[in-house]
Amino acid sequence: MTVKNIEITNKDDRHISVLLEELVNSIEIFDNRQNIIVDTTLWMAGHAIQIIKKMNKWDIFIWFDADDRNLKLAKINIENSNPKPKIILINSNFINLKEELNKVWIEKITWIYYDLWLSSLHLDEAERWFSFMRDWPLDMRLDNNSWKTAKDIINYYNAGELREIFMKYWESSQSNKVAHKIVDSRKNNKFETTFDLSEVIAGWPKEKSKIFQALRIEVNKELEAMEKSIPDAINLLEKDWNIFVISFHSLEDRITKNIFRRETKDCICTDLICSCHHKKSLKLHSKKPILPSEEEIKYNKRSRSAKARWATKII
Ligand SMILES: C[S@@+](CC[C@H](N)C(=O)[O-])C[C@H]1O[C@@H](n2cnc3c(N)ncnc32)[C@H](O)[C@@H]1O
Repeated sequence: MTVKNIEITNKDDRHISVLLEELVNSIEIFDNRQNIIVDTTLWMAGHAIQIIKKMNKWDIFIWFDADDRNLKLAKINIENSNPKPKIILINSNFINLKEELNKVWIEKITWIYYDLWLSSLHLDEAERWFSFMRDWPLDMRLDNNSWKTAKDIINYYNAGELREIFMKYWESSQSNKVAHKIVDSRKNNKFETTFDLSEVIAGWPKEKSKIFQALRIEVNKELEAMEKSIPDAINLLEKDWNIFVISFHSLEDRITKNIFRRETKDCICTDLICSCHHKKSLKLHSKKPILPSEEEIKYNKRSRSAKARWATKII
């Protein structure tokens, strides 16, 4: 399949890339050097397909996705195509960014971007259940090789552990109540499906999606992945090159904002005489996040919660 054919795949109306123009236009390709770009969250390659068109045959484009099905689809597309840059597919969580790049001898990169959250297909599919609108098994794993499912958490975490994940990821004063409600109700029957959980938390109808989201974050260790991967990405970037992060909820955006903010300071300790010797490594393109235009939101409602942050490495 040619690059043109990959575009056809990307026209799949189950997924529309968010902030496509903003991300693609931010990427500069220099013809007199090797550009090494990393897409950490490939899925339908909606962003990647546009970026690949700008790249040269001596460039390298590295594609990560934790979900092996997405990578398999991408592999079929590439095998039949004639893309200009060399493409390296990595089926891994981006928490392993540095380690996986080391395996393929990549020590420096020129561009990296994250388009967090799930693909719309994940939200609609039955097997792994990411959405709570239908009665599906409590799974929620992005990577089907990982062992911990939402069912394990709901049935086996104790009340304190459940409260902690709800406090951290739902940020609600009701966390304790919900944790105890779950523990009480599983004394009779273990939780099997989404509706089992939905019934037990029926007293918090407006908060359901946040409770389910908290579980998903725990199952996939989503925030830990960002906390490790983004600093690793910044270390891997060459001077004058860029990182772009698109996130979809405030917890994710806060992590990006805090890491970026820390990297724009020369000292991050509170000692009278600096003992951390931290050197600023980033320049922000703007303090405020990049948001989708009204036009984009009209066209793709799922984009309305997107926020992007873009920074350049300066050392
Ligand atoms: C929103 S989609 C990316 C869409 C893509 N940029 C496009 O425009 O077509 C996010 C993808 O990232 C993957 N993903 C989410 N978290 C990940 C992680 N921690 N490591 C690797 N892949 C991840 C999901 O499997 C999903 O395919």
